[in-house]
Amino acid sequence: MTALTIATRPIDGQKPGTSGLRKKTPVFMGAHYLENFVQSIFDAIGGAEGKTFVLGGDGRYFNGRAAQIILRMAAGNGAAKVIVGQNAILSTPAASHLIRLNKTDGGIILSASHNPGGPEADFGVKFNMPNGGPAPEAVTEAMFRHSVDITRYRISDAPDVDLARIGTATLDGMAVEVVDSVADYAALMESLFDFPAIRDMFAAGFRMRFDAMCAVTGPYAREILENRLGAAPGTVVHATPLPDFGGMHPDPNPTWAHELMAEMTGPEAPDFGAASDGDGDRNMVVGRGLYVSPSDSLAVLAANAHLAPGYARGLAGVARSMPTSAAVDRVARALGIDAYETPTGWKFFGNLLDAGRATLCGEESFGTGSDHVREKDGLWAVLLWLNILARRRQSVAEIMAEHFARFGRNYYSRHDFEAIETAAAETMMAALRMSFPRLPGRIVAGMEIAAADDFSFTDPVDGSVSRGQGLRILFANGARIVMRLSGTGTEGATLRLYLERYAPGPEGLDLDPQQALAPVIQAAHALARIEAYTGRSTPDVIT
Ligand code: G1P
Ligand code: ZN
Repeated sequence: MTALTIATRPIDGQKPGTSGLRKKTPVFMGAHYLENFVQSIFDAIGGAEGKTFVLGGDGRYFNGRAAQIILRMAAGNGAAKVIVGQNAILSTPAASHLIRLNKTDGGIILSASHNPGGPEADFGVKFNMPNGGPAPEAVTEAMFRHSVDITRYRISDAPDVDLARIGTATLDGMAVEVVDSVADYAALMESLFDFPAIRDMFAAGFRMRFDAMCAVTGPYAREILENRLGAAPGTVVHATPLPDFGGMHPDPNPTWAHELMAEMTGPEAPDFGAASDGDGDRNMVVGRGLYVSPSDSLAVLAANAHLAPGYARGLAGVARSMPTSAAVDRVARALGIDAYETPTGWKFFGNLLDAGRATLCGEESFGTGSDHVREKDGLWAVLLWLNILARRRQSVAEIMAEHFARFGRNYYSRHDFEAIETAAAETMMAALRMSFPRLPGRIVAGMEIAAADDFSFTDPVDGSVSRGQGLRILFANGARIVMRLSGTGTEGATLRLYLERYAPGPEGLDLDPQQALAPVIQAAHALARIEAYTGRSTPDVIT
């Protein structure tokens, strides 16, 4: 067995987006495509020689083959060891945990997150740093730079490693340690939450439904919820990870998790429902007959985290992405802790978490997490909710009503317009940006515009600046419109329109969010002329 040097040529478009490199599966399976990108990762981090990495993915189509190629490339590049989840399966938070637990030099995660999987669907690769978090922009830029002048990659010609068997094997002199995908992660969860209290709640008849959407969290949720916490067998549905996610679109929101929504609003609804995405870092939480928006969920978790043993000492601070509602800021004010506002994407939370400035973080896009790993973590959020429910002995509806009565309610919604023509989307955004100097003072849909800007972020820890992170229009009454183009789509452009309005209460706290936001929606369409530019007047997905 030898390490071969294979001549190659740069391939266009290997620029990582919001979360790694995502492309159509056939693109990733094309000649040298994966190899070029993986070599660019190794080159961007100063080589793989003598290093230890974690490797695993969400089980989508091409996961297993890609893992074998990456193992051979790690060996070809002189890595000392790769820790792999059994059958190359690892949820994103579990991979983040293994990177930290084993003090490795980082990890490669195979996932396109919530995008559909299959031979004609999506595939993705991302690199996480030794702190367990997604590579920051400087590193993803370096990967891209290497990808545009790559001339060769290194790969061993050794045969496949049996990834079904737990234990250590060698591949061309490199150690390959195959580990149980769930065990270390489950132990981490057990160290953070009041498992006895949750177990008592299930024993007393509490009913839950967890929809794993045929994606990676099935085995994790079964082990933790059913085996360790005593939830009834069958609590976890769609629990087997499938290469095409059984045709499901594993994005936990009311549109794609419609089976769960139907059950939670039906006559026999369980007490609590939750779903997770392709790679297990997202979560959706639903009470009986009641959907909890991710921004509200973050606020409730921040207000109640002290009920979980892992957070009993309180929170150092909280952080949210800019488009996420300000609900959590109100909680932070009440707790007397800092609240940070970062650009979209989990990588921007990394420095705050590493510096101990933030304990909980969240995004409106169904992402919540804490300093226990450096990724958002779907099951973690579900377990924190269960811990809170077990300790407060109230329903989700009661907890939400009390929360809004205390803090007021940030009505919030995101409207996505998918697969629009890229040029049209960019022209629309440019035109809106150009109009900003003329906006303050204008009245639209009965509301006065106070300010408009293009969000730019200065990292409070390392001083790095990220510009162009979303267009914001702020109204005098506290309402807000945010618009940005997705950095994770694989087809045309996706416009994300984020809408928010604050209701202080005590009246008007239980409106339908779309109705409560009607003037803000109207203002957004009028100001950005969405239909004129894109031909679309109604969104494809509303969350
Ligand atoms: C989307 C979400 C963003 C999240 C990312 C990765 O990115 O909006 O909050 O961090 O997926 O899960 P976008 O497509 O908007 O760039
Ligand atoms: Zn994900």
